[in-house]
Amino acid sequence: MKIAVIGSGYVGLVMGACLAESGNDVVCADNDPSKVALLNDGEIPIYEPGLKPLVESNLAAGRLTFTTDLIQAVQASAVIFIAVGTPSGEDGSADLQHVLEVSRVIGEAMNGEKVIITKSTVPVGTGKLVREEIKKLTKHSAHVCSNPEFLKEGAAVEDFIKPDRVVLGVDSDYAETVLRDLYAPFLRTGVPILIMDVPSAELTKYAANAMLATRISFMNSIALLCEKTGADVEAVRRGIGSDSRIGSNFLFPGIGYGGSCFPKDVKAFARTMTDLGVDASIVQAVEDVNERQKQLLLESLVELVGENLADKTVAVWGLAFKPNTDDMREAPSIVTIEGLLERGARVVAHDPEAIERAHNIFDKGVEFCSGNYETLEGADALMIHTEWHLYRHPDFSRMHALMRRPLILDGRNLYDPTRMAELGFEYICIGRPGPRDSEV
Ligand SMILES: NC(=O)c1ccc[n+]([C@@H]2O[C@H](COP(=O)([O-])OP(=O)(O)OC[C@H]3O[C@@H](n4cnc5c(N)ncnc54)[C@H](O)[C@@H]3O)[C@@H](O)[C@H]2O)c1
Repeated sequence: MKIAVIGSGYVGLVMGACLAESGNDVVCADNDPSKVALLNDGEIPIYEPGLKPLVESNLAAGRLTFTTDLIQAVQASAVIFIAVGTPSGEDGSADLQHVLEVSRVIGEAMNGEKVIITKSTVPVGTGKLVREEIKKLTKHSAHVCSNPEFLKEGAAVEDFIKPDRVVLGVDSDYAETVLRDLYAPFLRTGVPILIMDVPSAELTKYAANAMLATRISFMNSIALLCEKTGADVEAVRRGIGSDSRIGSNFLFPGIGYGGSCFPKDVKAFARTMTDLGVDASIVQAVEDVNERQKQLLLESLVELVGENLADKTVAVWGLAFKPNTDDMREAPSIVTIEGLLERGARVVAHDPEAIERAHNIFDKGVEFCSGNYETLEGADALMIHTEWHLYRHPDFSRMHALMRRPLILDGRNLYDPTRMAELGFEYICIGRPGPRDSEV
């Protein structure tokens, strides 16, 4: 099948490479010339496990090409995926300017019957807008569908190749047949393909993200209650997660969710509900709890060390919003580091993959180290934001020897509080018994 994927970011690049791998001819089009030049040289602008070899081999086989020429990409293809960004607008709603701009280009370029699929996360009703934009500009038949993407950064290739389910919102039998055929290689183990109308597919994506974010914020609220009562959130997590009606995924307490999806999608979903007169208080609370949670580590540090951090060195482990990615969009580490810099601290940071991106966020003020232990020399505290494997079993005696004050604020509950106390650390984590005294 001849396929165009418009937008070569985390989603477009992964899906383009995976569709090429299953034998399709895929052209990935992006309006960022530097990104396209990099990709044509076989370089990958993001860190995503397994993606580079997939791009390299399909590029070499000629099944995958990259271009800035959107019109040519559309005209060469029978199936077109729109995978451009949908960032938060000023009022929290999803900004659809890129999606609609691409729709107009598609409308102008149409040279035959095509299936056009929105992969980008878009509010319910967007499919109708895309269809209207395209139909204004062409007489050719345009089947406009929705195929929300559920991949996780850090496991995106694996998730695309082995999805839990594929959701397809279709507007015609023809589109359904084409898309079933396209996805068949990824569904051989009997994974469900859920065919529905376009608005239901659009809404499914937001409902899924809002549900997952709700579990995180709910657990973070439970963690705060644990701290007040002397209960251990890890025990509570296991206690509720083993209930088959609840399940154990997405119940880990921490310093809040970040990334390119949950924060903006939760905001946009609340906005859609409010605009349509539906009570958005659950979704709104999820976001409020998360914003509050991102402040937690900084507040704990200030409580222990004081407001003025001018003569303090703070080590930071983990910058990316989660492990196995270099993505720092809305990462909780940004909130902490900005707070540290405002208070005059010297910040020395490590992350296995995100340092290059962090350079663009903190152009000055943060020192970056290539090794995690280097950050600890003379440090008055260590703050952990990302649960990279590398940080799970460190050499504690080496850490203790390097730090001026052996104080660890762990936003991801990586270590056992009892053991840390035995090793001579002041150890602050989320929702576990420790130095924050219980009040019950
Ligand atoms: N990142 C994820 O984990 C994830 C998961 C599921 C869904 N999504 C959704 O998928 C969409 C894309 O997300 P992403 O993370 O890949 O974004 P991204 O910012 O990494 O990539 C978007 C790409 O689109 C390009 N682009 C923007 N406007 C364009 C235009 N007019 N013409 C051509 N190219 C254009 C940009 O240059 C960029 O390369 C978003 O709606 C997002 O919510 C993302």
